[in-house]
Amino acid sequence: MLSLTLNALLLALSFFRLSSAATTTSSPPASIFVYTNDNGNIGAGNQSFVFALNIDQSTSDVYIHMSAPAGNSWMGVGFGSVMQDSFMFIAYPSSNGTGVTLSPRVATGHNEPSYYSDIHCNLVWEGGLPNSNEVTSQGSASAMYLDAVCHNATQWSNGALPIGASASKTQPMIFAVGPGSHGGGSSTLQSDDLSAGIARHSAYGAFTLDITQATSKDSTTAGVPRPNSGSTYVASAASTSTPKADHNPASAIHGLVMCLSFVILFPLGALLLRTLNRVMLHAIVQGIGFFLVCCASAGGIVVSFAYNRSKSFASAHQIIGILLFLALLAQLGLGILHHRIFKKEQRPTLLGKIHRYLGPAIILFGIINAPIGFAFAGNPHLVIPYIVIVVLGIIVYICIRFGARICYRGRNAKRQAANRGGMDGYQYPQFGPGGQGPYSSGPPPAYGGRGDDVPLRPYESQHSGLGAPPAYPRPMV
Ligand code: HEM
Ligand code: HEM
Ligand SMILES: *[C@@H]1O[C@H](CO)[C@@H](O)[C@H](O)[C@H]1NC(C)=O
Ligand SMILES: *[C@@H]1O[C@H](CO)[C@@H](O)[C@H](O)[C@H]1NC(C)=O
Ligand SMILES: *[C@@H]1O[C@H](CO)[C@@H](O)[C@H](O)[C@H]1NC(C)=O
Repeated sequence: MLSLTLNALLLALSFFRLSSAATTTSSPPASIFVYTNDNGNIGAGNQSFVFALNIDQSTSDVYIHMSAPAGNSWMGVGFGSVMQDSFMFIAYPSSNGTGVTLSPRVATGHNEPSYYSDIHCNLVWEGGLPNSNEVTSQGSASAMYLDAVCHNATQWSNGALPIGASASKTQPMIFAVGPGSHGGGSSTLQSDDLSAGIARHSAYGAFTLDITQATSKDSTTAGVPRPNSGSTYVASAASTSTPKADHNPASAIHGLVMCLSFVILFPLGALLLRTLNRVMLHAIVQGIGFFLVCCASAGGIVVSFAYNRSKSFASAHQIIGILLFLALLAQLGLGILHHRIFKKEQRPTLLGKIHRYLGPAIILFGIINAPIGFAFAGNPHLVIPYIVIVVLGIIVYICIRFGARICYRGRNAKRQAANRGGMDGYQYPQFGPGGQGPYSSGPPPAYGGRGDDVPLRPYESQHSGLGAPPAYPRPMV
């Protein structure tokens, strides 16, 4: 009795499922694009990128199946032959890493497409669709799978997909995959956010679909295309494609050159002044550093336009970077002006003093801005190695700076005895202890005893380099 009612219930249920629209068990008409990896563009081995399309002409609902090797950070397909004004289906692993997020987007050009909230999409789980909306990890068969419907999705801002009578047999389409673990990059994108930032593709390509083969007249025959050969999708009513690998080193070069400048070059330039008293060497090294920062800043600005996260120039990393660039410009001007005045008048200047304190501050903030950049670019794993290098650099710096100071204490005494008064304008004693240094008995001729123009503490003035007054004429404390 119980089993009879249960059977009746099951029958009623199955009848309901059969009659409900859009849940057909026979495969909806579809055009199916398949690209099998042949040169490592989209993954390892012979894995495939699959895109299958069905359109409900009566509602303009677009049903899609898409899959790609799981190592890619995202997979995407768009209507049209170029990125500009293309409506794109972009999918990436969800925040738990095993589900999939579908983000409908529109691009304005060669830059990151933006989430397009006017078109609503839903993931679809139905019988006959294997691995729906999952990221599987079975060795070389690991892949991400998307089955979804986007409602009323054949028209969008600045574009439309011709359907019905005007449907094309060779509709231009584009596809791409994001950089993944196989490309040496980090495949860290896992998000439920429909506006999640995506990295520029590691490969992209074009193909065509026969839309007439993918069209359902009404909802009864529409749905996500089923596999057409056993449990796999094979190409049908679609062209082939030869995608291009896309290497985008601009951001990495920007980061590398910036780090090189702030962690190595600028501190080196400061050391040259501090330990060797070589003003021209100092100027040359800092000039090279400034030139490199100019180039890398230009690169940073170009890269900024490519991503939604950076195109409004409002992130901490960019603001700090731009302020640092302006400060560097000022630092350069201060250094040159001070030097000219000093050459002519042999006196310390306020400009020189600002230069002397602004410099280390710029270096400090530059060093701090790099890890903010790593986080910004989605490469937080680079922060630890960076910190290790910076700490090593600081140790080397301290060793040279204060090691040299100890050496010079002895050498200056000897040199002074051998060569009294034979110094150029900048070779005042950096490393003599305040008040007891070899020159404390009197100033060298060049300075004419005018060093106490600027009220510095004696210790500071002993170590204040280019911008500070010579300390030796000061009365002892
Ligand atoms: C952060 C996101 C993206 C950025 C920064 C970006 C940037 C670019 C750039 C700079 C080019 C020109 C490459 C060259 O001249 O060699 C390009 C081309 C291309 N991209 Fe993207 N892209 C992004 C996302 C996408 C997505 C999601 C797709 C596909 C669904 C895609 C498909 C293509 C295709 C097919 C081309 C060649 C056709 C064309 O020039 O538009 N891109 N992209
Ligand atoms: C002190 C100055 C700066 C330093 C030390 C610095 C350093 C870095 C570093 C280390 C990265 C990470 C690169 C990567 O991992 O691929 C980065 C990324 C970035 N930087 Fe800078 N940067 C500076 C100034 C700027 C400026 C002035 C701008 C533009 C206004 C800028 C824009 C960017 C952008 C947009 C990214 C992210 C690129 C992406 O998303 O792939 N940076 N920066
Ligand atoms: C290619 O795919 C087939 C299954 O379709 C598999 O048996 C074979 O090992 C794969 N070859 C490589 C090189 O991955
Ligand atoms: C992961 O998230 C997706 C939705 O984003 C969900 O469908 C799936 O059940 C989740 N998986 C687990 C194991 O929690
Ligand atoms: C479908 O979208 C278009 C514009 O994208 C809009 O004009 C139209 O009203 C929408 N139709 C329905 C049924 O929502």
